[in-house]
Amino acid sequence: MFESLQPMPADAILGLIVEHRNDARPEKIDLGVGVYRDANGQTPVPDTVKVAEKRLLETQTTKSYIGTAGDPVFNASMQALTFDAVVPDDRLVTIQTPGGSGSLRVAAGIVLRARENSTIWVSTPTWANHVPLLGGAGLKLKEYPYYDMHGHVIHVDAMLETLRAAPKGDLVLFHACCHNPSGLDPSAEQWRAISDVLLERELVPFIDMAYQGFATSLDDDAYGIRHMAAKLPEMIVTSSCSKNFGLYRDRVGTLSVLAESASSVAILASQLSHYVRTLYSMPPDHGAAIVSIILNDADLRAQWVDEVRGMRERMHDMRALLSDALKAKAPDHDFSHLVRANGMFCFLGVTAEQVVRLKKDYGIYMVDSSRINVAGITAENVDYLASSIAAVL
Ligand code: LMR
Repeated sequence: MFESLQPMPADAILGLIVEHRNDARPEKIDLGVGVYRDANGQTPVPDTVKVAEKRLLETQTTKSYIGTAGDPVFNASMQALTFDAVVPDDRLVTIQTPGGSGSLRVAAGIVLRARENSTIWVSTPTWANHVPLLGGAGLKLKEYPYYDMHGHVIHVDAMLETLRAAPKGDLVLFHACCHNPSGLDPSAEQWRAISDVLLERELVPFIDMAYQGFATSLDDDAYGIRHMAAKLPEMIVTSSCSKNFGLYRDRVGTLSVLAESASSVAILASQLSHYVRTLYSMPPDHGAAIVSIILNDADLRAQWVDEVRGMRERMHDMRALLSDALKAKAPDHDFSHLVRANGMFCFLGVTAEQVVRLKKDYGIYMVDSSRINVAGITAENVDYLASSIAAVL
């Protein structure tokens, strides 16, 4: 039966990991996949994760099944980190999921159970995996304008105009912070304007939060979610602990659904449980148990907040370093947008052909769209990076 299958192209983002690994040039630079890197180019296990993991090994008494929704203590801690009690707990259900992608997949499934043929509006552009993941699950996708590739700004007016014309009941996908790939987020005022349109048009926000703490602070980065949760009757939030806890391969995330009433929450919880059981039965526990230990120990939590601040500041500094280096090496070109973006990503703003040349001639890897992960920049490689970019302009 398998003779009928055709090979699939490599994933646009994950494929770069392999290409970079196989490149023998010592000066190569990986600005591809979204993983944090420190000043030595490493993706470390955060110290708090090491401490919590040790504690877990010493105290864990069983690895028996945990249930479809995962650990209630972890779920409550993540719910508080996301929503900070802006809505009553009895309007929310939160389950532990296998990373942010697992959360997106369950969310899509539950939406389709509630309403067949649901449509979700996604930003142009959005994370490369949003479209195949949500579309593959069966949601219909439509696009709203978001990023102006030439002016390097977000089109809030055009976005609002499109959403005003969207049919009632459609879902709208937002990135809570550190928009992937552009790095540009709505301001607080813009979040409020977006929220007003959703309320007026009876649209349902579906907010993906993969980088809480990487833009401004853990609280500020949840502004859009908290504002909408306080104003709107329903919403979906998918969260990932991959980046801010450095738990990429352990697959830790949550799905929260805000319902209009507590009675809908009970039904949603049973639907989610049934759905998860038929998909993967239950989420992996190890990473979530680590997060739960960190969030529920005042000292460890404070230390983790500081670790997140350290990652955020390093990425901010690396943007400035590259922008300054480009100012010197390519004075006729404007790269000032690099420092206006948040978190890990932004578009370098070069052509697809220049992206290929950077890879082929200089061993510099980035997504075809010219999205770069600024965490791949170091004080040691920035000069080579800026000279190489200047050489292909
Ligand atoms: C990225 O966009 O690079 C990250 O979210 C990693 C991934 O899974 O694509």
